[in-house]
Amino acid sequence: MRVAGIMSGTSLDGVDVAIVDLTARGASLEVKTLGTCTQPYPDDLRAALLAVSNHETHTREISRLHFLLPQIYAECFFECCRTAGLDPASVELIGSHGQTIYHEGIPAKVLGRKVASTLQIGDGSVLAELTGAPVVSDFRPREIAAGGQGAPLVPYVDWLLFRDPESTRVLLNIGGIANVTLLPPNCESSQVLAFDTGPGNMVIDQLAAHLSGGSKRYDADGEIASTGAVDPDLLASLMKNEFYRRRPPKSAGREQFGAEFVQSLLDTQLEPADLLATATHLTAATIADAICACLPEDIEECEVIVSGGGVRNPTLMSFLRAELSEEMELTTTAEYGIDPDFKEAIAFAVLARETWLRKTSNLPSATGARHAVVLGKVSY
Ligand SMILES: Nc1ncnc2c1ncn2[C@@H]1O[C@H](COP(=O)(O)OP(=O)(O)O)[C@@H](O)[C@H]1O
Ligand SMILES: [Mg+2]
Repeated sequence: MRVAGIMSGTSLDGVDVAIVDLTARGASLEVKTLGTCTQPYPDDLRAALLAVSNHETHTREISRLHFLLPQIYAECFFECCRTAGLDPASVELIGSHGQTIYHEGIPAKVLGRKVASTLQIGDGSVLAELTGAPVVSDFRPREIAAGGQGAPLVPYVDWLLFRDPESTRVLLNIGGIANVTLLPPNCESSQVLAFDTGPGNMVIDQLAAHLSGGSKRYDADGEIASTGAVDPDLLASLMKNEFYRRRPPKSAGREQFGAEFVQSLLDTQLEPADLLATATHLTAATIADAICACLPEDIEECEVIVSGGGVRNPTLMSFLRAELSEEMELTTTAEYGIDPDFKEAIAFAVLARETWLRKTSNLPSATGARHAVVLGKVSY
């Protein structure tokens, strides 16, 4: 089945599209990537999205962006088809994650009731109309309705594509937030453990933007961090955050590691390069600690297979290499034929196919849901 996956993550860097051919091979799935395309969000769109993300706003802005985003997604989809030489009509299905503007996986008290909720904008019907392909969107609400945290969803795809008969594998995605999926050898889907480890690039990005007066969106190639020194006292105090000690399932977002968190870092008055080095180290150290803590005691050897924009930050990757034990091999999904920049887009293509086939695709062991559910809504 030919499917396009469309992903726009918490980094708010832009939209990624991947078009893949998916072929069932026994209990596994073969993925052949036919085309990929990224379109960075223009600055004003990014600012508009930030202004409605976990923020007081007018409902008008949300409604408008809900209908505007599919235009951006559709443009990127057609551009992907064009550069890959694919007829858009050959794409049988689109899986679109949408842009998360609010996520509260743990129930809050609301009007005397307990309510967990999540909101991804970028309407599926609009996208179906613009592209001519059926669209699966809104993957998370059913998960929350089934008592789960609505995240993470990619671990099911990790299990489908990466489980190995012999070795222990850890899939690590470093987007705005970093998350891991632990796949024991030959595991059943019920044995998969997955959770957010804390910040990925989110804190680094905000610091880089602030310290450059807005001219930078991220610390390109980790260059600024590489010239700084990690501040051990600040790092130690940041590592005390209770989030890191909490047991999975757990998920993180701009709620924990957004503007307020970054302001507390800026308040330390440390040199910009030292702040960036410390934030970069925080990401690496919390990832390594989380991997160490989730491995069964008798397992020391494992493969850590990385994806996401963090792969492009050599300072982060070298901190991570240093924090992981020697028995852990560090690679990227590229070794397995999946472009690290498009792994999440591909994952939503895979999830869309499962929904199309009416198959469940959440992992209650990862999300805390009461049972497995078919995710998403279909716009024909
Ligand atoms: N050349 C680079 N150097 C350092 N960091 C980079 C580079 N390219 C991308 N990144 C990081 O990757 C992030 C985007 O990663 P991505 O996986 O798309 O995250 P998300 O899923 O949250 O959108 C950017 O915000 C930036 O922090
Ligand atoms: Mg992105």
